[in-house]
Amino acid sequence: MPLRKLIAGNWKMHGLSSDLEQVAAIARAAADYPGVDVALCVPAILIERAARAVPGFAIGGQDVHQAEKGAHTGCTSALMLLDAGASLTIVGHSERRDAQRESDSDVKGKAEAALSVGLNVILCVGESLEVRQAGAAVGSVLDQLEASLPSTLAATAALAVAYEPIWAIGTGKIPTSDEIAEMHAAIRQKLRDRFAAAGEKIRILYGGSVKASNATEIFGIADVDGGLVGGASLTAADFMPIVAAAG
Ligand code: 13P
Repeated sequence: MPLRKLIAGNWKMHGLSSDLEQVAAIARAAADYPGVDVALCVPAILIERAARAVPGFAIGGQDVHQAEKGAHTGCTSALMLLDAGASLTIVGHSERRDAQRESDSDVKGKAEAALSVGLNVILCVGESLEVRQAGAAVGSVLDQLEASLPSTLAATAALAVAYEPIWAIGTGKIPTSDEIAEMHAAIRQKLRDRFAAAGEKIRILYGGSVKASNATEIFGIADVDGGLVGGASLTAADFMPIVAAAG
């Protein structure tokens, strides 16, 4: 049976107080799609206001620190996200793996820290263009996933894996349906190997240039259990047709 789809927006470093109107519009419109889980991962400083504005709607962070607390200037702990009203967080986005030099073991620590306080986690993996062109995409993503996954998992609904090919992010380029199917099937097998039957229930999202125009095709691919959407999640007008494509 197909898993219930999750469509999550990643606002990245976009969003001011005035954009809370879009959060409210998306939350209102999402209520028309009770069969789809919808979430918005907004900048940390907007989480509390967004969560207050749309009670019951899933607001998330985009990163979390692996330590419980301490001398980590500028960082946000899992408990802080939860305290601000977040119910989930992204970890291991390629923009952070690259610019903040986050390693697989950092990402694993972040996932475990978030899960330990009851946050849901979207764990990102994805290959560069060079790796794809060298024919090594599947092996590289599986290695990344193996080293980034939390050691244990109490609830399958708490974890989603997002496959985001780096070369597809913000570029308008997407892999072919066969490439997406091949990667998602390989990720599914890895999740089965790691978590046995529970691995069947972990959602695998596709991310990278998801738009209204390609969402129906992408969400129809086997083992694509939703999407992680960047640029097209910033307004209800762009985002809701993607949610509708999953409904
Ligand atoms: P775009 O949808 O803008 O390509 O971004 C994808 C992404 O990085 C989501 O985390």
